[in-house]
Amino acid sequence: MRTLTVELGARSYPIHIGSGLLNNPDLYRPHLSGSQIMIVTNETVAPLYLEPVRQALDGFQIREVILPDGEVYKTLEVWNRIFDALLAERFARDCTLIALGGGVIGDMTGFAAACYQRGVDFIQVPTTLLAQVDSSVGGKTGINHPAGKNMIGAFHQPRAVIADTDTLGTLPQRELSAGLAEVLKYGFIRDAEFLDWLECHITGLMSRDPDALAHAIWRSCELKAQIVAEDEFESGCRALLNLGHTFGHAIETGVGYGEWLHGEAVGAGICLAAALSARLGWLTEAEVERTRRLIASASLPTERPADLAPERMLELMAVDKKVLAGQLRLVLLTQLGEAIVTSDFDRDALADILA
Ligand SMILES: NC(=O)c1ccc[n+]([C@@H]2O[C@H](COP(=O)([O-])OP(=O)(O)OC[C@H]3O[C@@H](n4cnc5c(N)ncnc54)[C@H](O)[C@@H]3O)[C@@H](O)[C@H]2O)c1
Ligand SMILES: [Zn+2]
Repeated sequence: MRTLTVELGARSYPIHIGSGLLNNPDLYRPHLSGSQIMIVTNETVAPLYLEPVRQALDGFQIREVILPDGEVYKTLEVWNRIFDALLAERFARDCTLIALGGGVIGDMTGFAAACYQRGVDFIQVPTTLLAQVDSSVGGKTGINHPAGKNMIGAFHQPRAVIADTDTLGTLPQRELSAGLAEVLKYGFIRDAEFLDWLECHITGLMSRDPDALAHAIWRSCELKAQIVAEDEFESGCRALLNLGHTFGHAIETGVGYGEWLHGEAVGAGICLAAALSARLGWLTEAEVERTRRLIASASLPTERPADLAPERMLELMAVDKKVLAGQLRLVLLTQLGEAIVTSDFDRDALADILA
């Protein structure tokens, strides 16, 4: 096991990464203040991993909420079931919520922890690659609204992140690819050397070589922890983590939640951002090609969905959270391994790229 710390003063917390962590009591206990624990998970993950987590928490008053599985259920109505369970069991302010699952469960549970009795503790136990490298770290929590993804939420940091790499063994291949989109993202925005490493090891990652996966998760978390420590509330560099996401969110909303996986939409979004960056003279055509090749080698799409019209995509991009004072801002690449947030690009060029 290796442990990183997200440095946020009094709210600092560890990220444990390794094999066989799920049922290790020592990783949970230092972070539990009261005796009541609500494990929030879904119907796919519960049969696989609920029992080992329960074992680790032996002696506590453990209850669980098992939500339906899928991005389409990341709604206000389904989220409310967490409060129904907490209130039915009379959970007090010193209770702890545990998010056991992928990013959907992590985001919903974290947001419930942010709101229940104005804020209680929670622990992230991410079980998808995407959640282990991205969504479980950094304290962004929330749910979707029919008009836009993740539009309702809060910043609320977990007390700990316990990323057991063994859980990736049961992950469908398509989900593994989706997680790799976020891993590649870190290389593109901040670490050219990591990007080279990823290019060399993409086959190993796709075939779940444990050492390759462990290194990719470790480096991704390290980069994310640095960025979050520098800019917890996204007033500066944290926005770079949204590379490909303004395009991606438009795709996700446009085709309907759950049709394209988040990571797939981000993969296509990174390629679109690279293409626009080339139009601004920052990337060469060869670098755009290199970007597309890498995204494609993770079995991710490199273009917008054929049935989502460019005009509709522009419309959806305009409601994105990155819009500031009516200006659409995008994360673009100044080189491979370096990114900026800018609203200074030609609208016609953007329309061209989408067409
Ligand atoms: N908060 C953040 O900073 C942040 C960052 C990135 C993404 N997100 C959010 O994360 C969500 C996407 O997360 P995701 O990709 O993990 O999707 P997900 O939570 O839907 O999980 C993907 C699928 O894998 C299943 N699953 C989970 N663990 C499994 C395992 N070990 N074995 C087999 N199946 C397993 C899930 O039940 C689901 O069907 C999106 O809602 C996105 O908005 C949040
Ligand atoms: Zn993402």
